[in-house]
Amino acid sequence: MKKDKFIIQSLDGQKKLSGEVKISGAKNAVLPIMASSVLFEDNFLMTNVPEIEDLNRMTEIFAGLGIKINKQSQGEYFIDPHGLNKFEIDEETSKRLRASVIFTGPLLARFGELIFPHPGGCVIGARPIDLFLDGFQKMGAKVQVRDDKYFVTAKDKKLQGANIFFKVQSVTATETFIMAGVLAEGETILKNVAMEPEIVSLVDFLNSCGANITGAGTPTIRIMGGNLLKSDGKVYQTIPDRIETGSFLILGALCAENLRVSNCEPKHLGILIELLKDSGVEIEVGQDYLNIINNKKQNSEFKSVSIKTHEYPGFPTDLQAPFVVYLTQVTGESLVFETIFEGRLNYTDNLKMMGADIKMWDAHRATIKGPNVLKGRELDGPDIRTGFAFVIAALIAKGESIINNVYYIDRGYENVEEKLRQLGVDIKRIN
Ligand code: EPZ
Repeated sequence: MKKDKFIIQSLDGQKKLSGEVKISGAKNAVLPIMASSVLFEDNFLMTNVPEIEDLNRMTEIFAGLGIKINKQSQGEYFIDPHGLNKFEIDEETSKRLRASVIFTGPLLARFGELIFPHPGGCVIGARPIDLFLDGFQKMGAKVQVRDDKYFVTAKDKKLQGANIFFKVQSVTATETFIMAGVLAEGETILKNVAMEPEIVSLVDFLNSCGANITGAGTPTIRIMGGNLLKSDGKVYQTIPDRIETGSFLILGALCAENLRVSNCEPKHLGILIELLKDSGVEIEVGQDYLNIINNKKQNSEFKSVSIKTHEYPGFPTDLQAPFVVYLTQVTGESLVFETIFEGRLNYTDNLKMMGADIKMWDAHRATIKGPNVLKGRELDGPDIRTGFAFVIAALIAKGESIINNVYYIDRGYENVEEKLRQLGVDIKRIN
């Protein structure tokens, strides 16, 4: 893994940034679309694909399965599943990409067999897979565990449609069982599913290629099992990344006099826009853009707001870290309640060492008092979103900061330093 670092200079407490950032395609939309190629008998083109490290990891998993992916041009990739000849997910890569678990449903549905290692957990939490193992058994498969690998076989090599009630809402489990249902015998009914826009986008594309799925975006999804899907030349256009959008909006509120966030989908970020407006940030909401204009105010003029992370359309856990950095700069005390992952507040020690006033009540709850002056330092961003949060902290802190293992930021943010430089950020990448 590359050991790149960022060296970032402070903005010296002024809102110096200005300009436009064009949002890239959504990482968490394109990953399930790529996994869905296992359900197809022909190939298809994807556009607006973000050039990020997770795309490279998915390409490695494809190679292990015999699926070809060819880059046509910037952001355009052609997927050809004709060579698909294996139902075992590569161990090395799946340890580095939790999302590889999305492949389990389609592979088991297509081959009636599946071998995969326990996917990598990461710093944000244990990342269990009980929902996947329970669901496969409900669809008539047997699961055996041998030396940290799962061996799953469907009865008579064919999954049976089933009623599955998820005891927690899980994005990738919802995606996996939607895809498993596409080739299962009969109807599959999924209850208490996740309702993220990326799931709606996946289902729209699968339905346009012959699937029969209803209820995406609601708590219950029904899938009628059928045959392999055919794109017949249809193209998947990746929806804008709502987490990248939110990340830059928070950065803009703290650091920019004028910022235009374009090529985005404001409808997917209702909760963040509401909270920032409550806090005093003026945001113009367009059809496919968001504008912060004449953001003259000092950050201390913004007032504190409390958040509770929640499944979509609630406050996204992926924006919690950037938002906590925001809360260190506004006036008042905020409560942050992280309900999704037990490890997703671990990074706050780093902000405290920069001078933030943060009190941890338990693994899920923190109170932040602001405004506090932060002092630049060396930081280790442990996951994608904390890495970006540290970039924001470095900009509002005094002095220079160094952010290590930038690989994590590259996993989820395309051309991040070019986008930042265009806004006026003094950032250097050193490896
Ligand atoms: C997806 O992860 C996203 N990743 C994550 O984004 C995001 O943080 C998360 O959803 C929540 O929104 C992708 O879409 C590729 P979950 P996922 O299953 O699906 C528990 C990023 O930065 N759970 O929805 O893996 C789990 O422990 C990444 O882009 C079980 O208990 O998350 C958690 O508490 C980080 N058993 C809750 O569900 C299971 O079998 C929600 O997790 C599966 C999950």
